[in-house]
Amino acid sequence: MTVVYFDSPMSDDERRERLFAGDIFVYSPTPHSMALVAFAREMAETAFAPHFPPDAQHHLAGPDYVRVLADLKPTFINHARSAELVRGLLADLGAEPGQTYFDVPRLRTMTSDYLNAGLTLQFESHRDTWFSAPMSQVNFWMPVYEVEEANVMAFHPRYFSTGVRNSSREYNYAQWVAHGRTAAAQQVEIETRRQPGAEEQIEREPDLRVITPPGGILIFSGAQLHTTVPNTSGRTRFSIDFRAVNRRDVQARAGARNVDSECTGTTLGDFLRASDLTPLPAELIRSYDTVPAA
Ligand SMILES: [Fe+2]
Repeated sequence: MTVVYFDSPMSDDERRERLFAGDIFVYSPTPHSMALVAFAREMAETAFAPHFPPDAQHHLAGPDYVRVLADLKPTFINHARSAELVRGLLADLGAEPGQTYFDVPRLRTMTSDYLNAGLTLQFESHRDTWFSAPMSQVNFWMPVYEVEEANVMAFHPRYFSTGVRNSSREYNYAQWVAHGRTAAAQQVEIETRRQPGAEEQIEREPDLRVITPPGGILIFSGAQLHTTVPNTSGRTRFSIDFRAVNRRDVQARAGARNVDSECTGTTLGDFLRASDLTPLPAELIRSYDTVPAA
């Protein structure tokens, strides 16, 4: 059973417990999620002017389109205001600022029937925990413009407690940072970077798709199997997502049960505390930072 909670008044501690059991939370837009969406829109609309961002893919040649994204995405991701608004959003949703650590918010785009690589990569079904995320990671996702069933993400809740054969054993986060990420802007048409993926057929149907208005928020465990559905809507989907962990969970090694992740390394070094932007203690990060088998 997977429960979808809507605008739940549950405390953050209880919510994480439910998330680690596979439930999903949906919230109406909050003041800070709306401000974050407004900030992303303003940036995207300036970058793609005079085109409306969800339609810009029909007006620009592939390389020009990718060039705009190559500038827009890092500008949004690294902007101090983006982090500020995420802190506000976490507070809106009841996360304790002194215990909650977050990673910078990503601006993602999913073009319709077009450019499936690099910065416009369409993710295959995956769990974030195949990419060196801790089992206690909680994911936040929100649409920037209207979405519909043909351009959102899909959950496959039946796999929450069932492992999938996958190639995460070949993935190490530190190696990815050293080699993979910088290559993204060079990949326009074909995806050649090695990403963990399923090594068996996944039963994708029936899946679960949640449609919220822009700024509505989905929260789910990083161990939840999810897919970016092939976009056939005719419009590019713009979304924002970020990850968070609670320090008590990290210390206690709490989180979802690991049913199939074999990656090494850890992303924990990327997380900053909501109250003061300090990282987790170095030795705590080190205790998660496993190295690949020789
Ligand atoms: Fe993901």
